[in-house]
Formats: sequence, structure tokens, C-alpha cells
Amino acid sequence: MYYAKLESEGYEKEATLLQLEEKITGKSAVVGIVGIGYVGLPLAVAFATAGFKVLGFDIRQGNVDSVNRGRSYIADVSDDSLLAVVTRKSLEATTDKSRLKEVDAICICVPTPLTSTKDPDLSYVIHESEAISRYLRPGQLVVLESTTYPGTTKQVVLPKLESSGLRCGVDFYLAYSPERVDPGSKDHNLKNTPKIVGGIDAQSTQLAQLLYSQIAGTVLPVSCPEVAEITKIFENVFRSVNIALVNELACLCEKMGLSVWEVIEAASTKPFGYMPFYPGPGIGGHCIPLDPYYLANKARQLDFHTRFIELAAEINEQMPYHVVYRILEALNDRSKSLKGARVLVLGVAYKKDVEDTRESPALKIIQLLHEKGAQVSYNDPHVPQINVPAGDMKSVELSKECLASMDCVVIAADHSCYDMGEVASRARLVFDARGATRGLKHDNIVRLGE
Ligand SMILES: NC(=O)c1ccc[n+]([C@@H]2O[C@H](COP(=O)([O-])OP(=O)(O)OC[C@H]3O[C@@H](n4cnc5c(N)ncnc54)[C@H](O)[C@@H]3O)[C@@H](O)[C@H]2O)c1
Repeated sequence: MYYAKLESEGYEKEATLLQLEEKITGKSAVVGIVGIGYVGLPLAVAFATAGFKVLGFDIRQGNVDSVNRGRSYIADVSDDSLLAVVTRKSLEATTDKSRLKEVDAICICVPTPLTSTKDPDLSYVIHESEAISRYLRPGQLVVLESTTYPGTTKQVVLPKLESSGLRCGVDFYLAYSPERVDPGSKDHNLKNTPKIVGGIDAQSTQLAQLLYSQIAGTVLPVSCPEVAEITKIFENVFRSVNIALVNELACLCEKMGLSVWEVIEAASTKPFGYMPFYPGPGIGGHCIPLDPYYLANKARQLDFHTRFIELAAEINEQMPYHVVYRILEALNDRSKSLKGARVLVLGVAYKKDVEDTRESPALKIIQLLHEKGAQVSYNDPHVPQINVPAGDMKSVELSKECLASMDCVVIAADHSCYDMGEVASRARLVFDARGATRGLKHDNIVRLGE
């Protein structure tokens, strides 16, 4: 009645806004999550657990079927939590985009990869914006969550949505809110990691803030989508640059006969102005290796050269080559050539305790070892099989016999389930690229950064 009265008095815009606000606070709003992968599925479960009806959209029938059966394919989402919301019909997945009409708020969580020449590939975002614009109706809020360069929401998504004939800030609302999940982390989650939102206009920001405050402990509004977009990339550039710095220090410590691990431990005692980062075989996942290129590319369009970003990427991308060189050296010291050597790689996920192998440096190490003629096998309890240029590989059982039969065991991801003492006592040679054996005194261990 109240909304009808507002509309009849010419306050359509106010009526649309108030109606959506009321639906969100009353949890009667239907939330659509487009792309139910690493980012989208936890988000869908969070909204459904908070009491919203959620529709998850994906182009992969396998993902849709798994969700509807209550079977999780993302380590951070337990089967129990998924099954609970699916059973009470709070979460349903579909490939049918026409059902976008049913939702009040849409969160876009599709991939933003790089092209083969490391340029931003926005094809998923563009394709999805076109799909949304086909079904857009007054009173909907659209939020882009995919990581991207500043300007995407306003310059790419907004025109696609307005091609529907509806106007942002009047008929629908649009904002950017970056996902900041830390895959595999037990400490950080949606509840205790502040969410940033930046809308195209004040109403869009207000609605996005209201939506996310239903599932996040803190929601921080910023002045525009561009600030939210660049903040996300800056966070990842910060990690990339600091990891590169410590990787460079690790290589220097090797030359100086010092242990980078001891240096980091000592530096970490400083209670201010320092934060530890750790060296490793390289960077992986869908964020740190990719996101900085999004910003570098955007900067180039403005005749600006982001030197830190490119230098960090260069150093980090060299690390798998450095690791293979150190393995070759360690074998050489034992009068063994890498060619023909039996090498077992432990952990092919890009980091500890996750199953994600995207951009994993372990895959590059395996490829390089193959190219040098090594007989490579791998074990990863989270990753049953991988595809590398040499073909498909299956995770081997990590038995005492297996460890003892290897010329070198390489620790590429230090999963918690590995007993490093057992590995070091069975293997002839261990190359530890993660500092996971620190504290062990075996003389068959060679470490990155020492
Ligand atoms: N993985 C992370 O840790 C992380 C963290 C923060 C931000 N991000 C960003 O979030 C975005 C998504 O990353 P992700 O890791 O969840 O990727 P993902 O590949 O795990 O998930 C994306 C999902 O989108 C689906 N999809 C692709 N095109 C679609 C379409 N047109 N319609 C519907 N579904 C479609 C895919 O099938 C897939 O299931 C990226 O921009 C990424 O940079 C990722």
C-alpha cells in the first residue's frame, strides 16, 4: 500500500529502494550468486545460512548437480553446511539464466583470468553482464565480486546493464565488492573479514552495504567502485611484492651461507614496522599471480609503468626454475644427475592444505623436472590427479618404500598431514622449498633460502 502510494505520487525511485531495503532486512530477498566456485559457493552458503533464499547459477552442470545433492567440491565448504541449506530449500543451483528474474540481489563471482599474453580476460564478466541485462527488472541490486581492474564496474558492467533500457540508481542498483577469502584458512572468514563496497551511486552503496551486513561482521563503504576495485588488487600486489622481496633475500642468503628462515624469525621479533612473509617455490592460486597484471595493464593504458608489480612478478615466476636448479645442484653434490633421477614432489596444490592447483608452482617444477629427464611422481592427498604437459599423473601412495626408493623428495606444499620427520628419515635427499623441515637436523635436507 505504502509503496503504491509513493509510486502514485511520482516517487517510484524511493519506492523501489525502500522495497528492496525492506526485503533485505526482512530476509525475504532472494539472492542470486552467479558462478558457484571457490568464491561463489561459500558466499551462497553464507547467505542461505543467514536465512535468505539463494539461487546459485553456474554453466557447469557438474557443479549445479553437486550443490543440489548437497555435495561440496570446495574444501572451505563442508558437506554438512551445504546439505543443511539445500535440505531446507534455502539454496538451489541452476544453469537456467532466465531464473535471474526471480532474484532481488545478484552477486557476480565468475572467473577473471588472463589471456595467453597476460592481458585481462573479461569475457566471463562481459558475458554474464549481458545475460543479466536480458533478465534485469526494476528493483534489483547487482554486485560484481570478481577481481578486476579499476573502472570495470562503471565502464564495462554498467553500460551492458543499462542496454536493457533500465537506469542505474533509478530502476536497479550496481556496486563492486571484492571477495577477500583466504582459502584454507581456519582463522579468517566472511564473518571476521571486513567487506568493502563501492556503489555507482549513494543508493547502490547503501544497498550493497545493507546486503553484506547480513553475513559479514563489518562492511566498509568506499566512495566509488573504482576505489573498491583497486583496493582488492592493491592487497594482492602488496603480497606479491613482499613475497618477491623475501624470495630475493632467500636467494641472497643461499649465496651468503645464511639461513633466510633464521633471518625472518629474528626480524619477526620486531613489534612494529615489520610483517613476516616467507619464501617458496613461487606463487599460485587465482589471485596473486593474476591480479597484479590487471592493474599493470590498466596503468599502461594511462602511460604509467607499474615497475614494482612487474619486477615482483618476474622474481616470483623465476622461483620454480631456481628450485629445479637447487635440486639439480643437490643431486650433483651426491654424484647423481637429474636426468634419470627418481623425484617425488610432495604437495602440488598452490599452498598448504588446499586442493587448488591453479597456477601452482609445483606444476611448473614437475614440468621442468620432466624436461630435464627426471622420473617424476607426486603425492598430494588433496589432489588425486593432475594434468601436466607430459600427460596425466596420479598421486602415488606415500609409503615408507616409496620415500626410500626416491633419489630426491621435494616439498612443494607443506600440507599439515605430512610428517616431515618421517619424510626426512626415510628419504635419501629432501629438497624443502617451504621451510617445513626447520628444526629437523638431518643432513639429507637441503632447504630453499639456505
Ligand atoms: N579463489 C580465490 O581465492 C579468490 C579470492 C578472491 C577473489 N577471487 C576472484 O573471484 C572470482 C572467481 O574466482 P573463483 O576462484 O571463485 O573461480 P572459480 O573458477 O572457482 O569459480 C567460478 C565459477 O564461475 C562459473 N562460471 C563461469 N562463467 C559463468 C557464467 N557465464 N555464468 C555462470 N557461471 C559461470 C564457473 O563454472 C565456476 O564454477 C575471480 O575474479 C577471482 O579473481 C578469487
